Amino acid sequence: MTTPMCSTYHFDNKVYDFSKILLNYYNDKYGTKIDSLEKFHEILDIFTHEEREDLLKINLFGVNDRKSIFIKDFYSFIDNDPTFINLYNDFVRNIIKKIHFPKEKQILFQTTPNLRISFPGSTSIGSRPGYDPEGVVGLHTDGEFGHLDEELNFIIPLTLMFETNSVYYEPEIESNFDHIDYNVVTLSKNQYFTGKLNKLKHYNRVNITGQTRVSLDIRVIPSSQYKESEVCSVSSHKKFVVGDYYSIM
Ligand SMILES: [Fe+2]
Repeated sequence: MTTPMCSTYHFDNKVYDFSKILLNYYNDKYGTKIDSLEKFHEILDIFTHEEREDLLKINLFGVNDRKSIFIKDFYSFIDNDPTFINLYNDFVRNIIKKIHFPKEKQILFQTTPNLRISFPGSTSIGSRPGYDPEGVVGLHTDGEFGHLDEELNFIIPLTLMFETNSVYYEPEIESNFDHIDYNVVTLSKNQYFTGKLNKLKHYNRVNITGQTRVSLDIRVIPSSQYKESEVCSVSSHKKFVVGDYYSIM
C-alpha cells in the first residue's frame, strides 16, 4: 500500500493460475519448453533476427502497441477455449466483486482482460513521441483516452512485477511529481494491485531486469456509478457499454 488511491492485496495464485494456462498454451503453439513466464523471452529464439527486432520494437501508444503476435494469439486462444475466461470470471466474482464491491448488487467489468508482455529490452505499451519525457514510455491517464471516470483498475501479475518491467504511477492525482519520483507497482505472484489509473498518470520504462513481465489488467465500475457512454476504446474499438467493452456480474 503506497497511496490512498492504490493498494495491494493477496490472492491464491494456485487457484487462479492464469500463468500455467498461458504457459501451456504458448509452449504448445510454438513447440517450446519454457518453464516460467519470467523466461517468456526465450520464445524469441525461434524467430529470425529481423522478426525478433520487430517483436521488441517499441510501437506507438494506441496505434500499434497491441498488435504483437503474442497478443493476437492470446485473443484467439481465449475466443476458442473457455478455460481462461472461466477462470477470469471466477476471479472477478470471488475476488474483485466480493472484496472490493461487497455492497454492490452488480459490477461492470472488462469482458476481455488486457494481456501485457514486457520483454527485456522492450516495454508492454507504446510510446508517445513528443509527449514522453526522456526514459519514459507511454505516459498517460486512462481518462485521456475516453475511459469512464468511475473506473477502477486492477493489475494481476502472471510473473513477478518489479522495477523496470513494471508500471510507474504518480502518487497523487495531478501531483506534478517528476516522473522519476513516481511509485512502481511491485508485486509477488500472489498479489494484485488496484488503483485509480483513470486519473493517476502512469507509464513504462524499457525493461532492464532481464525478466519478462506478463500481467493482466482490467477495469471495473460499480453498477451504481455507471453512466452509459458513446465513447470507444482506442485499442479494442469497443464502446464503453455493457455487452461490448464491459460485461455485468
Ligand atoms: Fe493505462
